[in-house]
Amino acid sequence: MKRFIVTGGYGFIGSNLIRLLLKKKYKVLNIDNMSYSAQKYNLRNIDKKNYSFKKTDINNRKELIKILKSFKPNGIFNLAADTHVDRSIDDSFNFIKNNILGVYNLLEALKIYKNKIRLVHISTDEVYGDVPGNKRSDEKYPYIPSSPYSASKASSDHLVYSYVRTHKIDAVISNCSNNYGPRQFPEKLIPKMIYNILNNKPLPVYARGKNSREWIYVDDHCEALIKLFFKGKKGEKYNIGSGINCNNIFIIKKILQSFRNKKIKIGKKVKIKFVKDRPGHDFRYALNSNKTKRKLNWKPKVNITNGISKTVGWYLSNRAFFSKISKELFVKRLGNQ
Ligand SMILES: NC(=O)c1ccc[n+]([C@@H]2O[C@H](COP(=O)([O-])OP(=O)(O)OC[C@H]3O[C@@H](n4cnc5c(N)ncnc54)[C@H](O)[C@@H]3O)[C@@H](O)[C@H]2O)c1
Repeated sequence: MKRFIVTGGYGFIGSNLIRLLLKKKYKVLNIDNMSYSAQKYNLRNIDKKNYSFKKTDINNRKELIKILKSFKPNGIFNLAADTHVDRSIDDSFNFIKNNILGVYNLLEALKIYKNKIRLVHISTDEVYGDVPGNKRSDEKYPYIPSSPYSASKASSDHLVYSYVRTHKIDAVISNCSNNYGPRQFPEKLIPKMIYNILNNKPLPVYARGKNSREWIYVDDHCEALIKLFFKGKKGEKYNIGSGINCNNIFIIKKILQSFRNKKIKIGKKVKIKFVKDRPGHDFRYALNSNKTKRKLNWKPKVNITNGISKTVGWYLSNRAFFSKISKELFVKRLGNQ
């Protein structure tokens, strides 16, 4: 039975990945430092037979080395990171610490194991920066990150590649587009809109809501990550995207439609409200994921209409998820300068 460490396993993607790994009968150790976005709720009701948790920071190299020695993983999925662009605008410190230094410490711990443990390092499409017109960035597209968040992710990708080349560790890098689905922290667009609709509040949208993102349902991303562990080529990067771009207004309209389809009453104050744009806001990200489809024999399965409906359905059945999170962490506008 393969054994995996998932770092950041109480977060959005990490918790969905852990659920999928357990469903596939793998053994999983979750390492999380329980920062603000970690939610115990995300892993409630899982079968604990093949699951364990260790509260640790990926910056704690000594502890990581101990864990690698005792757990003997075949692979590590590194999802531990600070992830909200607006927070990185207000204060970048945690992004440098967790996303760059954290990865450096993880790589140092892995140096001892060379080819015995494969690292799947999870990165983002945001490292490519704004992708204008109808272009789509493939894996050879230059890194031109625009925010402290995307710059910290780009730095970590470069570090990972350098450790493959210089120290011969076994690692692959994924660059994924915007994820959505159950268990996402409500500072992000889709769960925030769902929370506001449930609470009869206006729906704040940056600028005119035309910014375009390539949305992928979280389970499709997680399936690709597992394939990447088994089939990815050492030292290579793989884009993971749905191929479908939508602007924010389109997404919000889909969410509202999904509420109506489910016969949920929408309050009078629920109206789109345009607010001041995010500084340095990239207009468009768009990936060319042909390499991943071809080499990993992967393709996304969930279309945007079904995905949004499933997502809204999950939050409606899990309203307690919102009540466990302090409102101060997601209600106030950040990154406004
Ligand atoms: N959400 C997306 O749309 C998206 C898209 C592409 C890539 N990614 C990448 O996927 C990863 C996970 O994103 P997410 O949306 O699930 O984020 P999240 O904020 O929901 O979860 C991050 C988790 O990492 C933990 N963590 C942070 N720093 C840590 C540290 N130093 N040591 C141990 N644990 C730490 C947090 O406590 C949290 O549980 C990130 O690397 C992000 O850059 C996210």
